[in-house]
Amino acid sequence: MQAWRASLLWFDPHADGPQAHFEHDGLLVTAPDAAGVQRVLAVGAYAAVRAAHPTVPVRDHRGWLLAPGFIDLHVHYPQTDIIGAPAEGLLPWLQRYTFPQEARLADPDHAHAVARFFLDEMARHGVTTALTWATSHPASVEALLSQAQARGLRWITGKVLQDRHSPDGVRDDTETSLRDTETLLQRWHGRGRLGYAITPRFAPSCSDAQLRGAGELAARYPDVWIQSHVAEQVDEVRWVRELYPHDRSYLAVYERFGLLRPRAVYGHGIYLEDDDWALLRRSGAAIAVAPTSNLFLGSGFFDYAAARAAGIVLGLASDVGGGMSFSPLVTMRTAYTVGRAAVRGDGKAKQGVSLEPLDLWWQHTAGAARALGLAGTVGSLAPGSEADFVLLDPAATPLLARRCAQAQSLAEWLFALIMLGDDRAVRAVHVAGAAQQHNLT
Ligand code: GUN
Ligand code: ZN
Repeated sequence: MQAWRASLLWFDPHADGPQAHFEHDGLLVTAPDAAGVQRVLAVGAYAAVRAAHPTVPVRDHRGWLLAPGFIDLHVHYPQTDIIGAPAEGLLPWLQRYTFPQEARLADPDHAHAVARFFLDEMARHGVTTALTWATSHPASVEALLSQAQARGLRWITGKVLQDRHSPDGVRDDTETSLRDTETLLQRWHGRGRLGYAITPRFAPSCSDAQLRGAGELAARYPDVWIQSHVAEQVDEVRWVRELYPHDRSYLAVYERFGLLRPRAVYGHGIYLEDDDWALLRRSGAAIAVAPTSNLFLGSGFFDYAAARAAGIVLGLASDVGGGMSFSPLVTMRTAYTVGRAAVRGDGKAKQGVSLEPLDLWWQHTAGAARALGLAGTVGSLAPGSEADFVLLDPAATPLLARRCAQAQSLAEWLFALIMLGDDRAVRAVHVAGAAQQHNLT
C-alpha cells in the first residue's frame, strides 16, 4: 500500500459531465491488484482516510494538487518533429510536412527514437493515456507499444490506413494493410494495459475496399478502438463531397462502412451536418476536440453548444503536430477560447459558451476516459480505478503563485491553473502508482 497527501480532485467515473469531488487536505491510498497494477483503494478527506488506514506510509505533498493523469484523445506521435510547421491549410500541410516526416518511420530505429522522446514528453506534461496515431508502417506501432509496455502505460495506437491520395513512402497496399492491422491487433490489443486502434487516416486517403475491410475488422473485434478524422476543414469537406457524391455527409461515409460505434473516436468534427449530431449520438462514437490544432491549421471553431444539445460524447486532444502543444492545460485554455467564438469558420454562426474549469478538466480526464469506453479504469481516481495521477504545483511560476493565492473559490483556482499553467506545474507523474518522471527535488 502507498498513500499521498495533497489537495485532491477526482471525478465520478460514469457521469456524463463533471461530477467532481475536491478535498483541500486529502489522502489517496493505493494497493496492487492481482496483476501488480496499483489501484485506488481509498480517496477522500485526510482525517477520515487516515483513520481507516493508520499504518500506510504517507508521502506529504500538501500545497500541490493531486488529480487524475490527463488523457489525450488524439495525438500523432510521428509528428512530434513537425510541431509548428506552417502551411496554408490542412491539405498542403499534409503534403509538405506531414507525409515526408511520417515516411521516416519506416526505419524502426528512427521510430523507436521518436517514440521514446514522445513518451518522455507526454509524461513531462502529465499525460498518462493517449489514443495515439502511428504511421502506415507496422514498425511504428511496434516501437510505440513496446516502449509503452516497458513503462507500464495504458496506451492505445494503430497502424494508419492510407491506400490512395498519398505519396510513396506512406501509401500502403489495401490487402497488406488490412492483414497487418489484424496481425498487430492480435499481437498487442489487451496485452497488459495496451490497446489497438483501427486507424483509417480519413475518408479521402482510403479506398472503398480499405474502409470496408476496416469496418469488417471493427465488427469482428468490437472492443478494439477505431480512430479517424472528420469534417476538419472546409476544403477537405468539399473534397469528400466530390469523392463520395452519394453519401449524405462526410460522417455518413464512415457509417456506411461500419466505422461508427462505441470506442470510435473522430478528430475535429467542426463542419458536421445538422443530422450528423444525432448519428453520432445514436452510434456512440465520440469526437476528439483539438482546439490548438484547429487554430494553428486555421480549421475553425468547434460548436460546443450543438454538441451538448445533441448529447454526444467528447473529450480533448492535442492533435500534435497540427496542435501547438502537448500540454493539457494549454489545450484546456484554448478550448475555452474556441468555445467563446460565435462562428464556426465557414460563415455559419454558432452559440458562444463559457466552459467551466471543472468541465474543461473533465474533458481531459474522466470525460476522455468515457469517450474511450474506459470509464472507471482511468481518468477519475474513484476507488477501484488504476492509480495514474499527476501532482501539480500551483506555485510553479511567480504569476501562477500570485494568481492562485488570490483565488476566491475552487473554480477560480482551477481556472488560474488552466490559464497560466504548463509543464512547469507538473511536479510528478505516477503510472499505476509508480513514479514515471518527476521534477521533484
Ligand atoms: N487529416 C488527415 N490526416 C491528418 C493529420 O495528420 N492531421 C490532421 N490534423 N488532420 C488530418
Ligand atoms: Zn489528427
